[in-house]
This record gives sequence, C-alpha cells and structure tokens, in this order.
Amino acid sequence: MWTAKKLAKAYLDFFREKGHAIIPSASLIPEHDPTVLFTTAGMHPLVPFLLGQKHPEGKRLANNQKCLRTDDIDEVGDASHHTFFFMLGNWSLGDYFKKEAIEYSFEFLTSRKWLGLDKKRISVSCFKGDKDSPKDVESAKHWEKAGIPKKRIYFFPKKDNWWGPAGKTGPCGPDTEMFYDTGKKKCGKECKPGCGCGKYFEIWNDVFMQYNKTAEGKFEKLKQQNVDTGMGLERTVAVLQGKGNDYETELFRPMMEKAKELSKSYEEKSARIISDHLRAVVFVIGEGKGIVPSNVEQGYVLRRLIRRSIRHARLLGIEGMFCRQIAKKVIEAYSGEWPELEKNSGLIFRELEAEEEKFGKILGQGVKMFEKILKKEGRISGKDAFLLYQSFGFPLEMTAEIAREKGIKIDRKAFEKEFENHQEISRQASAGKFKSGLADHSEITVRMHTATHLLHAALRKVLGEHVQQKGSNITPERLRFDFSNPEKVTKEQLEKVEKLVNDAIGKGIAVKREEMSLEEARKKGALAFFDSKYVPEKVSVYTIEGVSKEVCAGPHVKNTKAIGKFRIKKEEAISAGVRRIKAVIEQ
Ligand code: ALA
Repeated sequence: MWTAKKLAKAYLDFFREKGHAIIPSASLIPEHDPTVLFTTAGMHPLVPFLLGQKHPEGKRLANNQKCLRTDDIDEVGDASHHTFFFMLGNWSLGDYFKKEAIEYSFEFLTSRKWLGLDKKRISVSCFKGDKDSPKDVESAKHWEKAGIPKKRIYFFPKKDNWWGPAGKTGPCGPDTEMFYDTGKKKCGKECKPGCGCGKYFEIWNDVFMQYNKTAEGKFEKLKQQNVDTGMGLERTVAVLQGKGNDYETELFRPMMEKAKELSKSYEEKSARIISDHLRAVVFVIGEGKGIVPSNVEQGYVLRRLIRRSIRHARLLGIEGMFCRQIAKKVIEAYSGEWPELEKNSGLIFRELEAEEEKFGKILGQGVKMFEKILKKEGRISGKDAFLLYQSFGFPLEMTAEIAREKGIKIDRKAFEKEFENHQEISRQASAGKFKSGLADHSEITVRMHTATHLLHAALRKVLGEHVQQKGSNITPERLRFDFSNPEKVTKEQLEKVEKLVNDAIGKGIAVKREEMSLEEARKKGALAFFDSKYVPEKVSVYTIEGVSKEVCAGPHVKNTKAIGKFRIKKEEAISAGVRRIKAVIEQ
C-alpha cells in the first residue's frame, strides 16, 4: 500500500540513482526574498542557481519541499487544491534538459520498479507556442518516443503551459504537465486534461527554465538551460491509493475525522477547508520563526487562514474553541518527520487560541451586520466591506466568500481604495504580495544584500556579540534588517555602525565565496543563525576579509566598492528584544 512517506522515499531514491544530490526542504519563510511571503515552490530557494550561480551540491538536485500558496485559496475544498502542500522536485542546473527530464518522469511514473502507473491513463500537455517561444514539439516528440500516443498529447497556450516567473521578473519557461485519468466520466464534450471536474489529476509538472523575464517584459535566454519539476505529493498519493480526493489519504484523514466528530451539521467542503488551512497554520507557526497572526505580511496570511477556518467551523455547527483539537491531529500526524511541530506545540496552541478568542466572539456580530447591510442596501459596497474589516476583523476574502454564498458580488476595487488610506496591508495586496513572486535579483537588491552583511558585522562590533540576525527583507527601495538587542540603539551607536559599514565599502574589499559543511563553516567563525535542519550538506560561505563571514545563499557583489553609500534611515522595536533597522543605498 502506498503512503505519502513511501512515495517521497521512492521519489528521492529514484533521483538519487540518477545522480541527484538530495537537499533538505528549505524553510517556508524565505530568507532574502523581498517579493514573496512564503516559499511557494521548490525552485524558489534555488533562484540564484537557476540564474547561473554554482550550487555547492552540484548540478542535479532533488527534494521534498514544504510550500505555501494562497493563489488557489478559493479552490481549497475541491479534490486536490491546497494552501500548504509538499512538492517533490528534481532540478537540472544547466545539466540535462528536455529529453532526460521527460524520460525520468515517464520511468518513475510507469516503471513497475517505481510507481507502476498504467501509461494508458497518462495524458500530457506541452506548450503551444507564441511570440515569446516556439511550439514545444521537442517535448512532444520525447513523450511519443516514451510511449504516449499523439492523441493524448495536448498543446496549450501560455496560461496553461508556462511556469514562472511568479513575480514580475526571473527564470521561467515552457512546461509539460502530466495528468492521470481517474476513470471518472467526462463532465462534457470539452472535458480534457486541465479540466477541473476531477477526471484528470495533474500530478507533475516539468518546467524547462530557459528564459529570464526582464522588467520590460522581454524573455531573454538564460545562460544555462535548467529543468525545474514539481510533483504534488498529496495528489499523487491519492492517485496511488485510488482515492477520489486528497482528503481521504492519511495526510488529512485525522483532521477530517476530528472535524466530523465535532460537527453538528457536517459539510465535507467546510471540513476540508478547516483541515487544509489549519495544517498550513501549524506548519508556519511550528517553524518557530516568530511568524504569528497579525495584520501584516505573513502574519496576515495566518490570520486569514485561521479566521476562515473559524467561520467554516461555525457552518458545521462547531461553537467555541476547536482549533487546538484539529492542530493536535496535525502535530500527531507530522511531528515524526517534522519534530519542530511538537517542540513548538505550546506556541501553536497559544497563538491559535488567542486568535480564536479574539475573532470567535465577534464573528457572529459581523455576520449579523453583513445581513443587516444586505437587507437595507441590497448589496455590499467597498465601504461596507471595509467596515466589516475594521469593526469585525473580516478579511476581504471572507466578506467576498459570504457574499458569493448569497449570490452577490462585492466591489473589490472600492474596498481596496478604502483600505489604502488606512493600512500598509493594502499596499501589499495591490503590489500582488499575497500572490507568489520570485526573488528580485536586480543589481540594487544584490548590493543591499551585501550591505546587510556589513551591517550585521558592524552591529556586532558596536553593540556586542549578542546581536544576531532575526530576519531581513530587501526591496529595490530599501533594506530592512531585524536583530536581537535588548534596548534601543542610541544615535551615537547608529552613527558608528553607519561609519563602519561605509568604511568597509570605501576600502573596496573583495567578497569571496567558498563551499563547505555547516559544521566547518561554524568552526571557521562564520555566522549562521538559523536552524541547521534547513541546511544542505554543503553551504556557501561569503567572506569580506577582516569584516564579515556568513553562511548565505547569495547572491552578492564581487567587491564592497560596488555597494554605494550606506544610510540608516530608521531604528525601531518590532517585538520584545528585537530591533529593526531600515537603510538605503545612495549612489
Ligand atoms: N515550479 C514548478 C511548479 O511549481 C515545478 O509547478
């Protein structure tokens, strides 16, 4: 009997046999990526390497990556869409390309030694071609050679068969997707792979990353031809177990059963939403990186997931506190492999209950208000949606969802406009920050990234060695650096820090990169303030001689003189014992 564990092991064993190094899952919270809130695909932490930087583990990699996407949040509740999921992936960094990638995929899916799926049930899709890139006849040819007949090879346009960049710029390319026919009847004449009716399960996507999309919207050929693949663990295990949906597998069953047990009026869809969303929340808070429900950035995503779960619990007739009971099931099911969940269970329960306490009480009043407005005005205006947010903490999506259930639409644009005057969050929403996005590796961002290393070193010199990086976020406009320090940094100290950074820039010191194990790096005095669980066997160490040595994925400038003038703009507290510096680079 296939289990998720067995599938993940088989996948990694297969690619190990094909010469791939197995790297650990990266954290769900991206380190140096200003444009994404969460790791949304296995390729995210690999962007610098897809763009040409050498990876310490070589040119062939594979892993099982924790991912979180909110793009599909409205689809959650169907058979196979999730917010949090596991993505099995293999990569070629300028090594093999279409032929081998397709041969590997086909062999793993159909060989008796591996998944042994019936090749007659597999359909594939390839890129149809447009002005940016030609029709992918090459992939189709490899599929045919492998044994997929022409009639099950489809050609679709960019919206279906192109992956990335998830943000505005970055690596991307045509892809070929693999679908498994579940045997369900076609939903209509037009039913084919890609149809959402549940007949075809999309289980794997091989992306041929050969372009870099520029800020001007051009598709430039990358220095190297890469392969980036993603297999959905939840979907594939459902297929292997012959289940019609992911929630019947062991990955969700314990939470589904608990939701059913607590329900007074059971609805499958609401139970699925609760199981999916709370699993996501447990994994995010469970990393212990300080991400908790709030009104901004990742914290707001958590808030939306928890609040939506609470509303769906009410639809099931579950009154009062329930999150802990579902979260407990997640922790029980997953902490064998992810022990940090058990370790941080106290924090997870506390945060969930605080949010439940806050929102559970006012949700009912908010729904009453919604109904009152609807009765009086016959619609929910942007102003009303904003009022529901401000007075009752209704995330916009929740208001939209309730409206949808009642067959009415809300004016999203008007809401966002209302919002603009009030909170930072609207800026993130309109900047598409709630969607996935790729790392921005523009020149200015790279310069600021190196500046954060100098800043880190300078802070440790001026304030003391207790200073540890707690987070960093870089956009082309500014850098933000969070670090531990019990008190406010004085003006004089900030001036000293700024001077130290500018001195190091002025000296024009080379930035050197070396590869070694984390243990070796620590022995050599490299700073590495993160959970070693997320670190591959070999890491990159960046040294700025006499100033700084840090374990980091890069990228960085080659010499500090490329940075420019460094200016601290602001220093503030963000939580007990954690300070934040905002700084800019001037030419
Ligand atoms: N990055 C590709 C995906 O997420 C593999 O589908």
